[in-house]
Amino acid sequence: MAYGGAMGYLPFREVIAEYLGAVRGVRCESSQILVTTGSQQGLQLSAQVLLDPKDRVCMEEPGYPGARQAFVTAGAQLIPVPVDDEGINVAELIRRGRNARAVYVTPSHQYPMGMTMSATRRMLLLNWAVRSGAWIIEDDYDSEYRFGSRPIASLQGLDTDARVIYIGTFSKVLFPALRLGYVVVPGDLVPAFSAARDAADIFSSTLYQAVLTDFIREGHFARHIRRMRMLYMDRRRTLVNAIQKELGDLIEVIGAEAGMHLVALLSRGINDVAVSRNAAQRGISAMPLSVCYSKPPARGGLILGYGGANAHQIHDGVGKLRMSVQEIA
Ligand SMILES: Cc1ncc(COP(=O)(O)O)c(C=O)c1O
Repeated sequence: MAYGGAMGYLPFREVIAEYLGAVRGVRCESSQILVTTGSQQGLQLSAQVLLDPKDRVCMEEPGYPGARQAFVTAGAQLIPVPVDDEGINVAELIRRGRNARAVYVTPSHQYPMGMTMSATRRMLLLNWAVRSGAWIIEDDYDSEYRFGSRPIASLQGLDTDARVIYIGTFSKVLFPALRLGYVVVPGDLVPAFSAARDAADIFSSTLYQAVLTDFIREGHFARHIRRMRMLYMDRRRTLVNAIQKELGDLIEVIGAEAGMHLVALLSRGINDVAVSRNAAQRGISAMPLSVCYSKPPARGGLILGYGGANAHQIHDGVGKLRMSVQEIA
């Protein structure tokens, strides 16, 4: 019940280090684990520790708005770098990212488009970071839920030069209101991250860390993941089928092989913000894809989460979405 250390509750950091080593191929000691209140805090602390105002930070385009927000708040200058079906385009990164201090990537499951970064790109990215002295901020937010293929090891595990800051969260694998995540901090940055956390809010709730430590140690966590993987696979299939049936002529589904969301690309000329607003009035939350771009994209879309909706809600929701898309089209 007393104050805890800024890096977190030691038994919890030990189980996280063990879990990440076994499941994500992350190479770290428990001393490198900083427990956070979710990845957003991991991003914010990384920005605070690693960046000076006006530093250049490369971002996947399209990319995660929460990361953009964290870097912009730290005064960084963002450089968008396009992604393709192998992840971030490293040739473009080399061209545009001269003097960049850091790059933000989601290699396991690109947010929002859903592809996995290829092995070649991973090696090229790590080489670029070493050559240019830049940091790689790896956001591994939902890698536990893959449906077609086995989980792919982290970029951090391939890094031999301590250039990768690995950020994870329990928001997706458990639930967001828990507000627990972690950063795997390169050894020599531990004092700086620890001081930044201490200055921000001192430490995360020990109670939740202790409960989750037991939950993981007693095997409930692994069982939960196995069970939820089946459930989400079902929900994903239900959503994809419902979209194809109801909206197949107006929407193309991409990125449905992992995680708890997919992207529904709209036919050219349909404004995704207008569709999203219309859907919200019908009680459907569908984030417009265009908010993930720094400039308006050629083709808009909707980011559809299916983790928290049962089959009935998915069918009902897609029916409402059809009305919104048709009305705006
Ligand atoms: C790319 C990405 N990173 C991180 C998160 C999770 O953030 P947090 O752990 O702060 O809840 C999300 C949630 O949607 C996300 O999409």
